[in-house]
Amino acid sequence: SFEVEIASTGQIIPVRKDESMLEALEDNGLFVPVSCEEGVCGTCVTRLLGGEADHKDVFLTDKEKAQMDQVAVCCSRAKSPRLILDL
Ligand code: FES
Repeated sequence: SFEVEIASTGQIIPVRKDESMLEALEDNGLFVPVSCEEGVCGTCVTRLLGGEADHKDVFLTDKEKAQMDQVAVCCSRAKSPRLILDL
């Protein structure tokens, strides 16, 4: 598990192993636009301001993934204890 920090409010949201980042956000009233929810379309891609994502999508290129400044919240997770999202 890891946690997500919402940059605009400082809110910290824990993401359990058995839920997606998207589900954790929605449970806290934060709705990111989504479409495929499978890491394909890129609709949910959100700016990443801090932390290291564990990219699980097939939308971002390897180069974009390495830049570590955006993340598909429908399916990706974290390698660092916390991700800071530009929400
Ligand atoms: Fe399609 Fe996340 S909703 S990539």
